[in-house]
Amino acid sequence: MTDQKSLDSILQERRVFPPGPEFTVRARIKPADRERLVAEARAGHEAFWGRIARETLGWHKPFTITLDQASAPNYRWFTDGEINASWNCLDANLRERGDKTAIIFESEPGETRRLSYRELTAEVCRLANALKASGIAAGDRIVIYMPMVPEAIIAMLACARIGAVHSVVFGGFSTRSLRDRIEDAGARLVITADGGHRAGRLVELKATADEALAGACPSVEKVIVLRHTGCAVDMKPGRDVWWSDAVAGQAASCAPVFVPSEHPLFLLYTSGSTGRPKGIQHATAGFLLGAKLTTLWAFDLREDDVFWCTADIGWVTGHTYVAYGPLAAGATVVIYEGAPVHPDPGRFWSICERHGVTIFYTAPTAIRALMKYGEAIPAKYDLSKIRLLGSVGEPINPEAWIWYQRNIGKERCPVVDTWWQTETGATLIAPLPGAVAAKPGSCTLPLPGIDAAVVDDDGNEINDPNRGGHLVIRKPWPFMLRTIWGDNERYLATYWARFGNRYYLAGDTAHRDRDGYFWVMGRADDVLKVSGHRLGTAEVESAFVAHPRVAEAAVVGRPHDIKGEAICAYVVMKGERPTGAAAEAMAHELREWVGREIGAIAKPDDIRFADNLPKTRSGKIMRRLLRAVARGEEITQDVSTLENPAILDQLRGQA
Ligand code: PRX
Repeated sequence: MTDQKSLDSILQERRVFPPGPEFTVRARIKPADRERLVAEARAGHEAFWGRIARETLGWHKPFTITLDQASAPNYRWFTDGEINASWNCLDANLRERGDKTAIIFESEPGETRRLSYRELTAEVCRLANALKASGIAAGDRIVIYMPMVPEAIIAMLACARIGAVHSVVFGGFSTRSLRDRIEDAGARLVITADGGHRAGRLVELKATADEALAGACPSVEKVIVLRHTGCAVDMKPGRDVWWSDAVAGQAASCAPVFVPSEHPLFLLYTSGSTGRPKGIQHATAGFLLGAKLTTLWAFDLREDDVFWCTADIGWVTGHTYVAYGPLAAGATVVIYEGAPVHPDPGRFWSICERHGVTIFYTAPTAIRALMKYGEAIPAKYDLSKIRLLGSVGEPINPEAWIWYQRNIGKERCPVVDTWWQTETGATLIAPLPGAVAAKPGSCTLPLPGIDAAVVDDDGNEINDPNRGGHLVIRKPWPFMLRTIWGDNERYLATYWARFGNRYYLAGDTAHRDRDGYFWVMGRADDVLKVSGHRLGTAEVESAFVAHPRVAEAAVVGRPHDIKGEAICAYVVMKGERPTGAAAEAMAHELREWVGREIGAIAKPDDIRFADNLPKTRSGKIMRRLLRAVARGEEITQDVSTLENPAILDQLRGQA
């Protein structure tokens, strides 16, 4: 959702940043390599991906079928192959990198820990054996609700080791979000921790998990609890077991269960424009291929890199670029449990300095927030080891891009703006850092093998740089989602129906400039991007109406200079509309309520009370009007279809 002001600022920025010659000399993909790859993929899409998959991953049983289109658009890749994702992330690295550091962990209070590939493998195997001892088998779902600690990754890989399907729920989500996800996935087991650290506070994960499970989630038989913060928790006899007890006496080796390529590796819930969050289902081989390949390509990963992707494991970025991608590529990854500005706004840079980070990947929201503190803060730290910067999750405004490139990248590092989604599994559009010139604000060109386009409402490609349209992917790719867990109809309706099953509909609007570069402007639907986190307006609305005193609510986004988007809610109460101090008190109560229901990220920035909402005569809420009111814009659209035009004045009066 980009307003005219930011669109203008994007279009005014015309600088081009070609890859530095010193970078290109050593780059994995040089301009000529890219040309070759693009040509190869054009000449034979399937053959291209078949070759790449054979060369990139370790297969237990090689595949002979590359792409099975029989049930398109439920595409299936490498169908007769067999593979194990944890084998590729662990065992495959042991011979050459057994003693190499896989994970460098730092917690907010300052604990640091390092795990070599050998140690990580042993920990994963112990937990995998404990899961097996609990009766978990291939295909069973396990919900992971953890802070950003090594054990979160260990838990994911332990599931993958035995073919269990993990579904990580972001530790910032609370009761209702967690319960919905556990129930939808039908999880047999939950792995959590006593608590976590965030901005100097304790996040009581186990207590939230207890609340979510109370009287609900009948599928859950067992809860494994990591002791991390040492906070007091209730352990329910017969259900709850400490992680340390579960793994005690378990062997440090565990034979991987090799699964067919299409076996689900994980479900990850994400918000759509309507209804409940959807369980995006990814397949083992295809996902792993995307994660590893794009880590190598887009981040130009080398053996001695120290890779820090600041995303939480609860989001897809944490799956692809904290866990599976860099580990399958044998990298050293940094993970940090805590807030970027705790105890001071130099924390990120201090971590980069102390751990020798060479590749740093974060979200525009974090860059904008850190930018506010001024350039003197990063200038205090030695950032000379950093050689590449990445951005993800939302459009990056050119101003933030330039600040990042200048103050963190010291004008020598490429900035890789990666466009992708939970559904796409890995980056699809991003500048290959040694081969493609960057333009601040553009994610540039699709990776080789990715057929992205911008099309109009009829599906015709738009080549006019002044016209925007729907961002679509025209050919299937191996790391695409396979379906929505338990709801294939919704999969078909959400991503494929719009263009007659021919194109994958991303849900973003974009345009392409004269050089064919993509400029993603934001979501075209009722999905919000708040601090890079994805939230559905419908989800927030349903949290509001769960409050006993709320009759109706409508939620829209408005631009926010740090968070990208802010949440603005219009609420109709049962009975009198509160005003003055009563309205303030009620707004406070509702904000806390939504925070408890969904999580702090969903707490609305603005809450406005109304007697009713602007609706058409058929009862549809006119969100475009609400958006205009939230942004304080002139209302230019036709309001003659409005059932109750007078309500606009009331809504505006509160602005
Ligand atoms: O709107 C796009 C935006 O984030 C959405 C996907 O959100 P999610 O599934 O949570 O995944 C985020 C991490 C991959 C997209 O539909 N988005 C993501 N990356 C970019 C972006 N918008 C512009 N530029 C990007 N680089």
